[in-house]
Amino acid sequence: MKIKQTCIKIFFVLVLPGCINFGYAQNLSVEQKADSLLSKMTLQEKIGQLVLTSAFGNKMGEMIKKGEIGFTGNWGPHKRDSLQTIAVEHSRLHIPLVFATDVIHGYNTIFPVPLAQSCSWDPDLVTKAASIAAFEAASDGVNWTFAPMVDIARDPRWGRIVEGAGEDPYLGSVMAAAYVKGYQGKDLNRPASIAATAKHYVAYGAAQAGRDYNTVDISERTLREIYLPPFHSAVNAGAESIMSAFNDLNGVPASGNYFTLTKILRDEWKFKGVVISDYNSVGELVNHGVAKDKSDAARIGITAGVDIDLAGDTVMGDIYAPYLENLVKKGIVPGSLIDRSARRVLRMKLKLGMFEHPYIDKDFFRKKGPSKEEKNKIARQLANESIVLLKNYKNVLPLKKDIHSIALIGPLADDQENLLGPWSPNGISKNVVTVFQGIRNKVSSGTIINYAKGCGILDTSTAGFKDAIENAKKSDVAVLVVGESREMSGEAASRAFIDLPGVQNELIKKIYETGVPVVVILMNGRPLTINWISQNVNAILETWYLGDQTGNSIADVLFGDYNPSGKLTVTFPRSVGQIPIYYSHKNTGRPPDPNDKYTSKYIDSPVTPLYPFGYGLSYTTFDFSNLKIDKTTISTNGSAIVSVDVTNTGTTTGTEIVQLYIRDIVASVTRPVKELKGFKRIQLRPGETKKVQFTVTAGMLSFYNSEMKKIIEPGKFDIMVGNNSDNVLTTSLEVVK
Ligand code: BGC
Repeated sequence: MKIKQTCIKIFFVLVLPGCINFGYAQNLSVEQKADSLLSKMTLQEKIGQLVLTSAFGNKMGEMIKKGEIGFTGNWGPHKRDSLQTIAVEHSRLHIPLVFATDVIHGYNTIFPVPLAQSCSWDPDLVTKAASIAAFEAASDGVNWTFAPMVDIARDPRWGRIVEGAGEDPYLGSVMAAAYVKGYQGKDLNRPASIAATAKHYVAYGAAQAGRDYNTVDISERTLREIYLPPFHSAVNAGAESIMSAFNDLNGVPASGNYFTLTKILRDEWKFKGVVISDYNSVGELVNHGVAKDKSDAARIGITAGVDIDLAGDTVMGDIYAPYLENLVKKGIVPGSLIDRSARRVLRMKLKLGMFEHPYIDKDFFRKKGPSKEEKNKIARQLANESIVLLKNYKNVLPLKKDIHSIALIGPLADDQENLLGPWSPNGISKNVVTVFQGIRNKVSSGTIINYAKGCGILDTSTAGFKDAIENAKKSDVAVLVVGESREMSGEAASRAFIDLPGVQNELIKKIYETGVPVVVILMNGRPLTINWISQNVNAILETWYLGDQTGNSIADVLFGDYNPSGKLTVTFPRSVGQIPIYYSHKNTGRPPDPNDKYTSKYIDSPVTPLYPFGYGLSYTTFDFSNLKIDKTTISTNGSAIVSVDVTNTGTTTGTEIVQLYIRDIVASVTRPVKELKGFKRIQLRPGETKKVQFTVTAGMLSFYNSEMKKIIEPGKFDIMVGNNSDNVLTTSLEVVK
């Protein structure tokens, strides 16, 4: 068996790539190799390269042999390599398949969900986690992930807010690049690299009323300033692919949108990779009402710039595969468009090194790669950094490890499955450390843990309350682990009400009434409306879904082994009625004034959020002082250095995330009251002061004018530094001609 495998390997690694079968000589560039292969392909074979399918069961082999499939899903290593054998050995041109799947926040090792990861404000760590995910996925034969999701989301009703980095285009852009770097590594050709996909292009997160797949109608300014930047950042970081979205955008569906897919992506940004549709999003051009039928949808998709069809309600690949050939033969779609897309696909396969190593390099994966301990260490560190301390009244936290007794209550306190969060198909729930286990491992052997579930996540019954209340009464502190189930966020999981589901709020109230100090641990995929909790309980930790290391990490924070440093990357509203609410809003002609009725506000609610963007507490306190700027004026290509002293005024070492915001005071178009332009993570010992510097370039102060040209307009700017979007020191800077 071993000998046979070695022979096969020698053949494919050493012999086959050099021979005529791949249709090119080895010393050619990627471009020349792609052209050479293309010149040997029939129209059908070219169209085959534009199809991603997994749904044909037994017919897959035959289709691969005929060159009707360019890509498929994740089949597990064994089946994967046997399908690859058909492509490489038995198809006419021996073009290897590429295997794709959604690796969103880990593959086997599950890291925090992306929204949680963004709260770490630690792009280097995000990159490390993504590279572990890539390694694990690649060892199973995956070559391509449909991640990162870089959609800006400002509406917590939208379930997919959990998949991205929150509301801000700057932070979103930093995180987009961090993921791309992690998945793709330095060189796509490495066995442990997988191609990244920035999705969903574009403005999917602006779905009206937060309803998934819904219409998006936004200005070109909002498109360019808010929704496009993370995609542009992913492209600049070298992302190999882009996924076109489900939504329509200003009347044109994103998967048939020439303006975004070709004019912006190709002409303006010079993107060279592939565009794949979302699942059946080309087919859905019919439902959108812009295509007469599926054939028309295929025409619109390919013409607008969608290269690969990820598609089919019942049978994947049912848009490009059956219709493109006829469209070309009838002269409706120029053959050059098929060539263009097929060339992009071949280029991707060449860059991935698929021709040199079409099979899983088992030796490589056996010998190399991070150990389980190293992976868990990164997962735990990222989970620690993702937790946001929202409230800590009278410093109830951290708890003492030798505390006498803890009432551990709530539907998620002893759960594993939900803690994986949405989009973790290869996660292993038995690897997840529950909160119960994490606390047990941390506290002294004498500490009593009085556990009671209290209720299920969606329960309407309060029958379990009694035990929970009794446990609370006999304990020194009650820790309540509450939230949403993992299916309540992610795709097709929009909510009209974003309270804690079921009777969980009532459960918290009952425990609070016992008089025991209450610590609430939230697990959820979106900001929730938690006014009562925020006003009443002693401490709140927002933990989102932290993945495998949940229990360890929550225990680290609860008992002070990790001092929380996470900061919200999305605003918490007080009510659904305030949505959309985000820090980077405009001033309006009538900014809210409590003493003037005729200003922009509500008669039944404050306008302010419950917790602002960038907010998060620590067990220590930080003081910001001495904000200085080295010049008061700069030219349109100049820069200034702003500095601030940050002091740890408490008694514990802690990490602060220092945030830089700007405001254009007067411009030819209205500008937001604040825009994030930089941040730094710093660690300070008690009493220590560090000077933190940012360079503010004139380019950072640019914006789109009314002709949609990016310009730097002379004038005055506020330069602000602080520890959340609502707590800043301000200085000013003038840009002169
Ligand atoms: C989702 C994408 C995902 C694709 C493939 C779609 O339903 O919108 O985010 O990549 O399925 O799984």
